[in-house]
Amino acid sequence: MTDYRKLFDLTGKTAVVLGAASGIGKSSAEALASLGARVLCADRTQEGAEATAIAIREQGGSAAAAGCDAADRAAVEALAAKALRELQRIDIAVTTPGLNIRKTILDYTEEDLDRVINLNVKGTVWFFQAFGRIMVKQQGGSLIACSSVRAVTIEPGLAVYGSTKAAIGLLVKGFASEVGRSGVRVNAIAPSIAETALTGPFKQRPDIYDLYAGHTVFNRWSSADEVATAVAYLASDAASYVSGSTLFVDGGWTAVDGPPTGLTQLAR
Ligand SMILES: NC(=O)c1ccc[n+]([C@@H]2O[C@H](COP(=O)([O-])OP(=O)(O)OC[C@H]3O[C@@H](n4cnc5c(N)ncnc54)[C@H](O)[C@@H]3O)[C@@H](O)[C@H]2O)c1
Repeated sequence: MTDYRKLFDLTGKTAVVLGAASGIGKSSAEALASLGARVLCADRTQEGAEATAIAIREQGGSAAAAGCDAADRAAVEALAAKALRELQRIDIAVTTPGLNIRKTILDYTEEDLDRVINLNVKGTVWFFQAFGRIMVKQQGGSLIACSSVRAVTIEPGLAVYGSTKAAIGLLVKGFASEVGRSGVRVNAIAPSIAETALTGPFKQRPDIYDLYAGHTVFNRWSSADEVATAVAYLASDAASYVSGSTLFVDGGWTAVDGPPTGLTQLAR
C-alpha cells in the first residue's frame, strides 16, 4: 500500500516563502517547517521574516531569513540565488505578497494601477522566472502563488485587484504548461476572508466583518493557518498530479450566490 503519510511529509525538502513576515505567508512558512522542510523566510520587512524564522527555530524547525521586495525583479533574482546557495536545492517556492488599492475604476490613477500590477502580476512573473529556472534545472519543484476569490467574483472597487488575481490564475496555467515536462508543478491558492494583518481593519467594523462572514457557508472567517494547510498540500508529493490549478480555500464563498440561509421557508 502507498505510504500516504509519507506523501505529506516534507522532511528533507527545502522551501522559500516570500511574504513570510505576516498572515498567510507566515503561516505557510510555519506549516512547511512543521512538516519537516528547511525554510528560507523572506519578506520586504527583513525583521519580520527574521521573527518568523526565530519562531520556527524555537519550535524545533529549521529556518533562516532574508529581505526581498517581491516587486523588484533584481531582488527576487538575488533571493533565488541566495536560497540556492544556502539550501543547495529549492523544492518549494511560495509567494504571497499582494496589493489591493480599493478604488473604483473611475478613481484609479496611473500610479495606483502601476503599483498593483507591479507587485501582483509582474512580481508573480519575476518569482516564477527566478525560481522556475532553478527548478527546471534541477528537474523538479513546486511553485505556489497567491490568488483570491476576487479572481472570479467581484464587488465595486476591486476590479483592478481582481483582474490581477485572475491574471495569476492564467500565469499559473501557462507556466504549468511550460515546465511540467521538467517535473515542475505550478499552482495557486485562492482565499476568501482570512484573518491577517491585511484584513485587520475589518475587525474594527463588525458590520462589514459579519457581512463578509455571512458570504461563506460556515458564517465565519478563516485563520491564516487554514489557508497554509492548502499551501502545504500543494507543496507536498501528495499533490504530485496537481498542476495549473487554483485551489479555492474560501469557505464556500464561490459556491453560493443568494441569501445565506436560503429561501426554503418562503418556498414552502
Ligand atoms: N487575507 C485575506 O483575507 C486574503 C483574501 C484573499 C487573498 N489574499 C491574498 O493573500 C496574500 C497574502 O495576504 P495576507 O492576508 O497574508 O497579507 P499580510 O499583510 O498579512 O501579509 C503580507 C506579507 O507580505 C509582505 N509584503 C507586502 N508587500 C511586499 C513586497 N513588495 N515584497 C515583499 N513582501 C511584501 C508584508 O510585509 C507581509 O509580511 C495577498 O496576495 C492577498 O491578496 C488574502
